[in-house]
Amino acid sequence: MEIGEKLKFVRSALYVPASNARALEKARSLDVDMLIIDLEDAVPDEMKAEARAAALGYVAAGVGGKILAIRANGIDSAYHADDLAALRGSAVDLVVLPKVESAGALPDIGLPLLAMIETPAGLYAAREIAAHASVAGLIVGTNDIAAETGIKPGREREGLQLALQTIVLAASAAGKPRFDGVCNRLDDMDGFDVECRQGATFGFTGKTLIHPSQLAIANQAFGPDAAAVAEAEELIAASRGGAQRFKGRMIESMHVEQAKMTIERSRHAMGDR
Ligand code: COA
Ligand code: MG
Repeated sequence: MEIGEKLKFVRSALYVPASNARALEKARSLDVDMLIIDLEDAVPDEMKAEARAAALGYVAAGVGGKILAIRANGIDSAYHADDLAALRGSAVDLVVLPKVESAGALPDIGLPLLAMIETPAGLYAAREIAAHASVAGLIVGTNDIAAETGIKPGREREGLQLALQTIVLAASAAGKPRFDGVCNRLDDMDGFDVECRQGATFGFTGKTLIHPSQLAIANQAFGPDAAAVAEAEELIAASRGGAQRFKGRMIESMHVEQAKMTIERSRHAMGDR
C-alpha cells in the first residue's frame, strides 16, 4: 500500500523530539501509527545539528510497522535548507513542514509532505495547499494558531472551531487525511478524551500527540469501536441499494460506503498496517 493510502488509517501521530534519545528509544515499542521526529519547536537551537543527525540515524535503522515522518524547521528558519538537504534521499516516509502559507512555497524534495496549517495566512490558503500534488495531508498547529491570532481556545476549543473546520474541509476536498492539533494538558485525561472525540466528530482522521500517555485514548477515539463495526456489518448486509429504512433511519449507498470504510479502518487498527 502506498504511503498516501496508509496515511488515511493513521489514528495517532506522536511527536518525538529528535534531541531526546530516551524518547526516541521508547517510541519504538509504543502502540502508535506514526512517529513525527521533530527537528523544530521541540529542539533547542544549540542542538539542531545533533538532532538532525540523530533523526536520520533513527530513520536509517527503521522502526518496523510504524509510519515515520520528520518535521523539518520552517521555511523562514536558518535550519530549513540544511534540514531539506539532509532529508532528500533519506528513507523517511514523509516530511512535515511547519507554517506552510502557500502552495507555491512548497519545496520539492522528492518525498510526500504533510503541510502544517498554523497561521492565518495558512488557513486562507489551506485549500490550494491541500490540493498540491506533493501534499499527502494536513496537520493543524493549534498552539501556533492561538499564539498568532490571540484566540484563547478554551476547554471545548470554541475559539478554534472555524480554523479546525477550515482545515478539515480543505483536506477532505482534496481527498486527503487531516490531523488534529496537540493537547498540551498532560494531566487532564478526561479533557483529552473529550478533545479527541471532538476532533473525530469534526472530521479529523487522526490526532497529533506529545506524550505516550495520550496514545490509547487517541487510538480509541479515531478507530471504530466494536459496536460501530458490528453496526457497519449489519448495515452492509441489510442494504439493497437506493434509499431504505434501517433501524429507524434512512440509509443510501453513501452510508454503505461509509460502513465499508469503518470496517477497513478497524482492520488497520487491529494490526494490518
Ligand atoms: N515520545 C516518546 N517518548 C516520550 C515522549 C514522546 N513524545 N514524551 C515522553 N516520553 C517518554 C519519556 O522519555 C519517559 O520514558 P522512560 O519511561 O523511558 O523514562 C516516559 O515517556 C515518561 O515521560 P515523562 O517523564 O512523563 O515526560 P516529561 O515530563 O519528561 O516530558 C514533555 C514531557 C511534554 C516535555 C515530553 O513528553 C515531550 O517532549 N513531548 C514531545 C514534545 C514535542 O515534540 N513538541 C513539539 C510538537 S508540539
Ligand atoms: Mg510550531
